[in-house]
Amino acid sequence: MTPEIEVSRDLDEMSRRAADRFVEAAEETVAGRRPFYAALSGGSTPRTTFSLLAGTDFALRFPWNSTRFFQVDERSVPPDHRDSNFRMIREAMLDRAPLPPEDFHRMRAESADLESAAHDYAHEIAVALHPLGGLWPRFDLIQLGLGPDGHTASLFPGTAALEEEKRWVVPNHVTKLSTWRMTLTYPVINAAREIIFLVDGADKADVLRRVLYPESPEDRFPAQGIAPREGQLRWYLTESAARFLPKRS
Ligand code: 6PG
Repeated sequence: MTPEIEVSRDLDEMSRRAADRFVEAAEETVAGRRPFYAALSGGSTPRTTFSLLAGTDFALRFPWNSTRFFQVDERSVPPDHRDSNFRMIREAMLDRAPLPPEDFHRMRAESADLESAAHDYAHEIAVALHPLGGLWPRFDLIQLGLGPDGHTASLFPGTAALEEEKRWVVPNHVTKLSTWRMTLTYPVINAAREIIFLVDGADKADVLRRVLYPESPEDRFPAQGIAPREGQLRWYLTESAARFLPKRS
C-alpha cells in the first residue's frame, strides 16, 4: 500500500487528525467483534494526541473496554522517572481514561535483567494477540515517532536491534546515549495492520526529507526500515516538519 502523507498546520491540528484515526481504527476493529491492539511510542510529539483521546472530544467515542495498549519502546528508567515513556502516557491519557489498568501493558525496562524483561514482554504479547504458530503478532495500530537522527521506536542508527530478525522485543544498547532501551523489533512492527508516524518540528525537517526522498547512499535511516508487509503506513506531519518536502498538489 502506498504510504499516505497528511500535512497539518500545527501540532494541535495534527494531533486531532491522529486522534480521529485512532478512534476510527479502533471502531473498525471492534466492529469485527475483537479487541483493538495498539502499541504506543514515547517522546514528546504523541503527548497531545494521547491527551485528546482521554479528553471530552474523543473519550466517549473511543472503545476503552475493547482496547489493549502496549508500548513500542521504553527507556531503562523506573515508571515514575521524568524520562519514562510510561509516565508520559500515564499523565497524558491513562490517569484520565476509563481504561482498566490491566489493559495497559507496561514495558518493565527498569529491570536489572533486561533480557528476561524483554522475553516476558514478548510472552505478554503472545498471550494477548495469540498469533498462530510461527507467525508474527499483528497489532491493529502502531504509533511511531521520528528522531532527528532518523531513529524510530528505539531502533537507533548503528545499533544491534536493527539486525534482529527473530525476537519480537529486545534490549538495545544505544552507545551515543550511553543507555539501554527496550524496543519492539522491525518484524513485529512491520506485521501491523496500520502504522502511523507523528512528526512535528523544524528540527525533523531535514531528516524527514532524507527518509522519504533519499538522494544519496548516506540517506539511510532506521525509519526507512518501517514498511508494513500487509498494512497501511500513514505519515502525520506538521508544516514545520514537512517544510523541505516537495509541495503536493
Ligand atoms: C522514545 C521514542 C522515540 C521517539 C522519537 C521522537 O522513547 O524516545 O519512542 O522513538 O518517538 O525519539 O521523539 P519526539 O516525539 O520527542 O521528537
